[in-house]
Amino acid sequence: RIIPILLSGGAGVRLWPMSRELYPKQFLTLCSDKSLLQETALRVADRERFAAPIVVCNHEHRFIIAEQMRQIAVQPDAVILEPHARNTAAACAVGALRALAVSPDALILVLPADHIIRNLPAFAQAVGRAAEAASAGYLATFGIAPTGPETGYGYIRRGSPLRSQPDVHHVVSFTEKPERAVAERYLAEGSYSWNSGMLLLPASTLIDELARYAPTVLDAARASLERGRTDLDFFRLDADAFAQAPSISIDHAVMEQTDKAVEVPCDIDWADVGNWASLWQVGTKDGNGNVTRGDVITSDASDCYIRSEGPLTAVLGLDNVVVVNTGDAVLVAARDRAQNIKEVVDHLHRAG
Ligand code: GDD
Ligand code: MG
Repeated sequence: RIIPILLSGGAGVRLWPMSRELYPKQFLTLCSDKSLLQETALRVADRERFAAPIVVCNHEHRFIIAEQMRQIAVQPDAVILEPHARNTAAACAVGALRALAVSPDALILVLPADHIIRNLPAFAQAVGRAAEAASAGYLATFGIAPTGPETGYGYIRRGSPLRSQPDVHHVVSFTEKPERAVAERYLAEGSYSWNSGMLLLPASTLIDELARYAPTVLDAARASLERGRTDLDFFRLDADAFAQAPSISIDHAVMEQTDKAVEVPCDIDWADVGNWASLWQVGTKDGNGNVTRGDVITSDASDCYIRSEGPLTAVLGLDNVVVVNTGDAVLVAARDRAQNIKEVVDHLHRAG
């Protein structure tokens, strides 16, 4: 059985004011009646195919995670608590080491906890192809057909097909978050996919690649596990040991370096809901192109994203705006500026 590793460490600042430091986006019910984390756990709930997941998260979020897992009746194999965020390389290392302790030939499926995937049969099929490649020792990425020169994604350059699996390709190069001009060039050239951020590989291969390309991350992960301790239903990594891990993503630490990566191209109706504009994009629109949630009325408004978590919210005569009302904070923004919300949040931090 494949061991899922759920990464739930992001802050999701671009979904302010819904997403807060103590309640980031993966815990929010943004698109359905389940949170993104719950949707992620349910995607791999078939226990014939997947073992119980290992969740790697910040210690501040442990009770939210426990409660959300209880709600969907998923019993994790482990909930591993990071004392501070050290980005995804350290989190993946910890998860892979834990999986190895369960089984030396474990295949792991690393899943970001904040994505939307709407085509579940296609996802299941892609996991099958990736598992076959991983069993042959490859590090399988899931490639998404790009729709624009986004700079927030990793770009996979597709090479020749595997001899044993013609629907899986070698990765010629991997570029994490390229500059705009570079992303535009990639799109013009063709043969590039977006990296969805999911990985399927043998835990031992990930450890080998970390040992080669990011040994300080691996050492810190190993020491923080060895010196960590069980606390109720959680496992606390040792803070001093974990602090030694450099803060680096798995994409920079391993994916850009390794020569073992392959791409499983997939069409799974995927979205990384990074900001309100992307939620508008994936949302169900009314006749005027508005996506609304909660107690909202619109008049003469079009192509807006309007959401209220409580107070009746009315929008009149506006186009292409985002309005999010949480009861204690209100955001009104131009839709095409939604990715800049960090500016507002930085302002809040400065103001204390
Ligand atoms: N446990 C833990 N600890 N999880 C973390 C941490 C951490 O310190 N930092 C981030 N995560 C989790 C996030 O919650 C998210 O689920 C996942 O790891 C990926 O982190 P992001 O910060 O969202 O990465 P990204 O979106 O900028 O880039 C990645 O995803 C893109 C697709 O959405 C990369 O893999 C890109 O190459 C990829 O295109
Ligand atoms: Mg992300």
